[in-house]
Amino acid sequence: MGGPEMAPHTPQRSGAPGEAGGPLYNRGIGNGFVPVAKTSEVAPGAMKWVVIDRERVVVANVDGVFYALRDSCGHQGAPLSTGTLMGYVIECPLHFACFDARTGELLNGPVSADVPTYQVLVEGDTVYVKR
Ligand code: FES
Repeated sequence: MGGPEMAPHTPQRSGAPGEAGGPLYNRGIGNGFVPVAKTSEVAPGAMKWVVIDRERVVVANVDGVFYALRDSCGHQGAPLSTGTLMGYVIECPLHFACFDARTGELLNGPVSADVPTYQVLVEGDTVYVKR
């Protein structure tokens, strides 16, 4: 069970309109989603940190699907954006805890909390995140 479709939020493929179609205001833009990056700024397999409401958020591109998580490891708060993205796994740069970029779940490593995730929406060439 699971997969992106079953996650608490539904990320969109790069450049694909939301499955509901129609104008953005029908799908959440204006309801807390803020533009954080161009899709071209975060290539597949890459991460980028951004700031939303004074909090660092890491945007990860997992094979063309964008995910957003708090940019703070659940162990001792190291910035996950400076770690390594391998498939859907983000490895913390400090003590190597591994988190599922899709869910924020701790997969292995030091005892740690899961990392909060945020809703992502891609419209055209822009990635939006709702914190
Ligand atoms: S701060 Fe990330 S594993 Fe320790």
